[in-house]
Amino acid sequence: MNILVTGGTGYIGSLTSLRLLEAGHRPVLLDNLCNSHPAVLDRIATLGGSRPQFVQGDVRDRALLERVLAEAQIDAVIHFAALKAVGESVAQPLAYYDNNVNGTLALLHAMQTVGVRNLVFSSSATVYGAAEQMPLYEDAPLSATNPYGQSKLMVEHMLADLAVADPRWSLTALRYFNPVGAHPSGLMGEHPQGVPNNLMPYIAQVAVGQRASLRVFGNTYPTPDGTGVRDFIHVMDLADGHLAALQHGVGRPGLHVFNLGSGQGHSVLEVLAAFGQACGKNLPFDIVPPRPGDVASSWADPRRAREMLGWHTTRSLADMCADTWRWQSTHPQGYSV
Ligand code: NAD
Ligand code: UFG
Repeated sequence: MNILVTGGTGYIGSLTSLRLLEAGHRPVLLDNLCNSHPAVLDRIATLGGSRPQFVQGDVRDRALLERVLAEAQIDAVIHFAALKAVGESVAQPLAYYDNNVNGTLALLHAMQTVGVRNLVFSSSATVYGAAEQMPLYEDAPLSATNPYGQSKLMVEHMLADLAVADPRWSLTALRYFNPVGAHPSGLMGEHPQGVPNNLMPYIAQVAVGQRASLRVFGNTYPTPDGTGVRDFIHVMDLADGHLAALQHGVGRPGLHVFNLGSGQGHSVLEVLAAFGQACGKNLPFDIVPPRPGDVASSWADPRRAREMLGWHTTRSLADMCADTWRWQSTHPQGYSV
């Protein structure tokens, strides 16, 4: 299939594009490069055997999208392009609603005009809000605690309404839990700009000596060791999940919602210890007060994806840490070096 991948040079989009190439599809990557580097295209070419078509542009540019969808004879779209920093979304809500909600609206309009009606959308476990009941099932109540989460929830509502209004659409929302890790070659991975917000990239920067020590946000949560527990998922498992979702969704009308997680939680201190094993060092940390808005625990019930997509995670926490370390230690400046 010819697949338009919005946000295709980003962390998850680039690795999914590589997997699409490897599976014999033709990905066309569209990205405005606001949070990614074009050098990733060379890495995809090296690992995937051919260089995917790349369009530098914005998902809010409906005319551009219509042109790309028609000219490349696109069969389906995987829509990653979005802003994703929770704290920034609180400070700049309009930028988040514009990119994430308007961007998706423009994309859906363009798809409608050209007659492409297969979409896989990057949603997030953030749509479960501050849920306390674990594990999280797809039909658990939905809510959001910040503008980023609201933007994902709004898009899910748009997709649900569209599926009801026009049964020709196949719309899949994938709710990712905590994606981490890198390509096992160490050639592709995540390189956040500035101080990392997320646990794994922060630990990786401590391990490589770019940050002094990990700040552990709270150790009095009702969890086995008192630190936060999350469902970490290797980004290559996540990439495989997109292939499975495409295979399931294309030509199958309706809204399809899946958790993509392992079903297993790991605490902050467990992740730190696993990373220490991977890099062969004891990594320093300080306990600091909890981060506002954090929940104690979050993990998926991944059964629906296993049963309906035939997909489940296969990579362990040790794999996630080893692959992140391989990438971080060889690319301390990400793709810019
Ligand atoms: P990323 O920032 O690495 O990738 C997103 C890409 O989209 C970037 O390359 C950026 O340049 C591009 N982009 C942003 N706005 C755009 C626009 N208006 N037009 C064109 N391109 C634009 O992020 P990621 O981690 O790869 O996340 C991909 C998707 O998965 C996002 O939708 C994100 O919200 C979602 N998600 C990520 C996580 C996570 O922890 N990484 C968790 C849950 C959901
Ligand atoms: N943590 C620390 N120190 C840090 C960073 C994080 O102790 O420097 C802790 C957090 O308090 C939390 C755990 O590590 O307990 C995981 O935090 P992350 O920031 O890595 O991930 P979150 O679960 O908070 O959020 C991530 C994405 C969100 C997304 C959510 C669900 O950042 O965008 O997963 O998919 F909504």
